Amino acid sequence: MSAGLVQAAYIVAALFFILSLAGLSKQESARSGNYYGIAGMAIALIATIFGPDSQGLVWIIVAMVIGGGIGIHFAKKVEMTEMPELVAILHSFVGMAAVLVGYNSYLDAPQVATHAEHVIHMVEVFLGVFIGAVTFTGSVVAFGKLRGIISSSPLNLPHKHKMNLAAIVVSTLLMIYFVKADGSMFALIVMTLIAFAFGYHLVASIGGADMPVVVSMLNSYSGWAAAAAGFMLANDLLIVTGALVGSSGAILSYIMCKAMNRSFVSVIAGGFGQEVVISGDVDHGEHREASAEEVAEMLKNSKSVIITPGYGMAVAQAQYPVHEITEKLRAQGINVRFGIHPVAGRLPGHMNVLLAEAKVPYDIVLEMDEINDDFSETDTVLVIGANDTVNPAAQEDPNSPIAGMPVLEVWNAKNVIVFKRSMNTGYAGVQNPLFFKENTQMLFGDAKDSVDAISKAL
Ligand code: TAP
Repeated sequence: MSAGLVQAAYIVAALFFILSLAGLSKQESARSGNYYGIAGMAIALIATIFGPDSQGLVWIIVAMVIGGGIGIHFAKKVEMTEMPELVAILHSFVGMAAVLVGYNSYLDAPQVATHAEHVIHMVEVFLGVFIGAVTFTGSVVAFGKLRGIISSSPLNLPHKHKMNLAAIVVSTLLMIYFVKADGSMFALIVMTLIAFAFGYHLVASIGGADMPVVVSMLNSYSGWAAAAAGFMLANDLLIVTGALVGSSGAILSYIMCKAMNRSFVSVIAGGFGQEVVISGDVDHGEHREASAEEVAEMLKNSKSVIITPGYGMAVAQAQYPVHEITEKLRAQGINVRFGIHPVAGRLPGHMNVLLAEAKVPYDIVLEMDEINDDFSETDTVLVIGANDTVNPAAQEDPNSPIAGMPVLEVWNAKNVIVFKRSMNTGYAGVQNPLFFKENTQMLFGDAKDSVDAISKAL
């Protein structure tokens, strides 16, 4: 393939990536968004592999078969609830790839015409390795936290912000030295070690409740790492793709921050909202329990019902019986709607995907902001496997780790039924005063079994 043809293919691939992002931004077009992405990536790979700069076709194909095989195996096996972990570990690969490309580009520097170009190349190498190393260890820690291998509580080292600042200052000084000394291997290695530690510390300092923001922030970092690799390899498509991922990840982080009432700047600085006093054990009083039959009766006597699903619905795969009872109630003229918190579940849009899978009509699935004022006029709320996203402590307890996070104000309804298996806390590890309110009753058991039992009783 000639260089001109490769460039043309790159432009087409970049257009497909933009169409893909546009498609992925709406549920109705998400499937075609995926196809555009696949088409763009196929074109990009073919153009790169058969382009004039590639050598060792056999090795490339062997690596692709092995890597592709491992990828297909894990992607097939992964549960929907484990998706953020998969995404986190994939981000770490992008980070490590940027580090390796950086070292390769340092050892095998391209021939350049001017001194200025040489300096630019060295800065590219240094920044690419830095961003890649931060992304690598940050993503590995995020993976560990999401999988429960690493404690989800924030690491609170003394002077943590000063340490982060020192890492950036020392790395900047090392970059100046690296350029002045015309590429000192020593400076590059020391900076890499600092960046590995910096990435680890940045994410380890963030608590469980803020993990959604971390995942999207690392998504953004991985994009910038790829763009940096694109500069080092003088590959335009990698620069464009990296910038698309980097900026869309940054926009997603911004949306998440707004949803969780966190400051965007402090997230970027890593280590936000952690100066929080964890409340001690508070006696919330007694909780009350209801049976599936009682809940079915209550539903039949309701005029309006709101269902607020959470992570537990995903674990139990209760979306299908939930759809069943929704249809049964609607057939009796009861107004049934869904209230979706922006960080319910374990990945953005998690609940929307599950409900769409079960064929719940889109028009009765509303965002938190659209439905929050309606709880006071609602007869019954079914909280199905949600916990943190319906926790009034976010509004009532300024010392709570989730203080300030907007939540679904389910307690304003006449009756609240909480479906879960025990009195255990949610992802953020915070007790939920909702369970002890006068108008709340607990329906213990696996969410799918409970909803099935209600469906039978209906
Ligand atoms: P959570 O606060 O995680 O609570 C889920 C509840 O479901 C748990 O209290 C659990 O109680 C219950 N549960 C688990 N399995 C169940 C089953 N089989 N049947 C019935 N109940 C079951 O859920 P949420 O309200 O959706 O909040 C999400 C949390 O995850 C937030 O803190 C959010 O910040 C965090 N997070 C979100 C994301 C994104 S992007 N959405 C990513 C990472 C983290 P039992 O054990 O007692 O049953």
